[in-house]
Amino acid sequence: MHLNKLLEEKKAVIDDALRFFLPDETDYPPTIHRALHYSVFAGGKRIRPILALQTAELFSPNWRRIIPPACALELIHTYSLIHDDLPAMDNDDYRRGRLTSHKVFGEGMAILAGDALLTLAFEILAGTKDKYGEYESDYWSNVSPEVKLNVNFEIAVAAGTKGMIGGQVVDLKSEGKSITKETLEYIEEHKTGALITASVRLGALLSGANNRDLHRLTLYARLLGNAFQIVDDLLDIEGNEEKMGKAKGADARNQKPTYVSLYGLEGAKKRREELYKLALKELDDFGDKADVLRELTRFILYRNY
Ligand code: IPE
Ligand code: IPE
Ligand code: MG
Ligand code: MG
Ligand code: MG
Repeated sequence: MHLNKLLEEKKAVIDDALRFFLPDETDYPPTIHRALHYSVFAGGKRIRPILALQTAELFSPNWRRIIPPACALELIHTYSLIHDDLPAMDNDDYRRGRLTSHKVFGEGMAILAGDALLTLAFEILAGTKDKYGEYESDYWSNVSPEVKLNVNFEIAVAAGTKGMIGGQVVDLKSEGKSITKETLEYIEEHKTGALITASVRLGALLSGANNRDLHRLTLYARLLGNAFQIVDDLLDIEGNEEKMGKAKGADARNQKPTYVSLYGLEGAKKRREELYKLALKELDDFGDKADVLRELTRFILYRNY
């Protein structure tokens, strides 16, 4: 199947589920619910949930059981973007083709919208058949409590100070400074890599991957996660603003040390190629089954938006 078609199909599945899990826009108090819908349905690429679904498909045709935790990850990612754009952080005006949350709803509401998405993610992860009917009864509810708790734990760690937040902290603290290669790697691996790795791992963990496969996929995801941030940094200079839905030049404006500021555009592209090849190597043992994941990897690392 053509990758674009597949991405569209999977995106539709995720969007339907997100619509199911999010409170209605009109629910009281409507301001916050409008803010949630505004950011969640602004047109993100849904790369993290799609990675989770595609990883699951390596092991089982039963990928629908991944939908609830994949949605949880997308909500955590969206919350991280809302907060990342705040004046106290990167101070950006556009995201996913729209004015940023704080520009429309005010800073207080944007902070609360982020908090609400993070909380909703864990509500979904703790969801049961009684709470969520359809989505839960067929899929997530059939996962053993032990595996569920493990997935929950991994997502919490990936989102916290040992994961995404840790990366964001060092990213903020590094503005205007010259940093070492190790610090740059810490930022990449944590602010972006942690949620990417969690996406791939949950797809594998919920589909009965053995330890060997889980280990390989974890290595694959770490390489992809590092490359993902390098690509984001490249796009901040060379991307298609209209398709990205966010303004270029934020990194230079905020004096962020990035792979590009340290090693130049060519250095960053060379590193992307290296990481891409290393990531693909980790998929070798999966044979033809991993073809879609290979194509997806290529798309993620060589897109212009
Ligand atoms: C952008 O992520 C922010 C980073 C973590 C680098 P995406 O490029 O996946 O953004 P959306 O979800 O498609 O908007
Ligand atoms: C953001 O990195 C990573 C997050 C955890 C949100 P960036 O600050 O580079 O992401 P963009 O460029 O604003 O999307
Ligand atoms: Mg940032
Ligand atoms: Mg930013
Ligand atoms: Mg960026």
